[in-house]
Amino acid sequence: MRGPAASDRLCGSFTDSGARVTRPADNPLPTETRREPRLLELDAITLAFGGVRALSGVGFDVAAGSITSVIGPNGAGKTSLFNTVSGFYRPQSGSIRFEGRDITRLPAPRRAALGLARSFQNIALFRGMTVLDNIKLGRHCHMRTNVFDALVYFGRARREEVALRAEIEERIIDFLEIDHIRHAPVAALSYGLQKRVEMARALAMQPKILMLDEPVAGMNREETEDMARFILDLRAEWGITVLMVEHDMGMVMDISDHVVVLNFGQVIAAGAPAAVQNDPEVIRAYLGSGDVAELRRKLVAAASGGPS
Ligand SMILES: Nc1ncnc2c1ncn2[C@@H]1O[C@H](COP(=O)(O)OP(=O)(O)O)[C@@H](O)[C@H]1O
Ligand SMILES: [Mg+2]
Repeated sequence: MRGPAASDRLCGSFTDSGARVTRPADNPLPTETRREPRLLELDAITLAFGGVRALSGVGFDVAAGSITSVIGPNGAGKTSLFNTVSGFYRPQSGSIRFEGRDITRLPAPRRAALGLARSFQNIALFRGMTVLDNIKLGRHCHMRTNVFDALVYFGRARREEVALRAEIEERIIDFLEIDHIRHAPVAALSYGLQKRVEMARALAMQPKILMLDEPVAGMNREETEDMARFILDLRAEWGITVLMVEHDMGMVMDISDHVVVLNFGQVIAAGAPAAVQNDPEVIRAYLGSGDVAELRRKLVAAASGGPS
């Protein structure tokens, strides 16, 4: 749990799972009307696997400093979208711009080095390794690793870089409150802590934008509450823009500035959480998906403002 100093300046609301989510009282979320510069711009992205069109003409912007969430029923194309933005999948058409630069054809490691980091829907950590070693892997996108660099880059400059990296890792460990498990093997940790370690590794890449694929899936109430606050603090304290995919509707509506809804690979709605939540098209999409009981439960819980 976080210390009282952090909670003093926070005000709260509830997610559908009943988790208390907090938001800095002195640092309100940017509103839809405030025009922030666009950090990431997706335009008409189409991605197909054989006959399956996972994404059809997907376009939206992510404002710098925002928390932008992508929601949609299972199979809507959310993970495919993440894989396309991070460079694991190459779209058949469309473009991706990051800080105004076209990165559509850039390989994944180059995108990571520019400041795009991500976590995975199914945790992708080295389970036999310790927490600290997993976090250290995140730094590699910034370290000079080829033979030429290694030859010309040694001595004091290198030692300074290593020291700086270690300092950043300590800051991350402190921020995510995982000091007590730094030497524990990842396999021995609870699911919630593993998700946090994955976030730590992504942060070690010093990203400008952090992409989280279902950061609270499978988490209990307390873990969800902690993760939601970490995401808000990330933006407030580190200035990191967040793009996330998440099923926990209450959490999404509580902490997002902007919500994009995908259905069958297309954007069917986008806007402020309140507008999207009441969009008939969005409700229809969930009704048709078989997720209806789940959605009803969440909407009822969100409306009553308490735990479900
Ligand atoms: N690697 C892949 N190969 C073939 N089809 C895929 C692959 N990844 C995703 N798909 C298909 O693309 C569609 C969208 O999937 P996905 O992006 O995983 O959706 P979501 O994350 O919203 O549940 C689904 O029909 C899925 O079967
Ligand atoms: Mg997915």
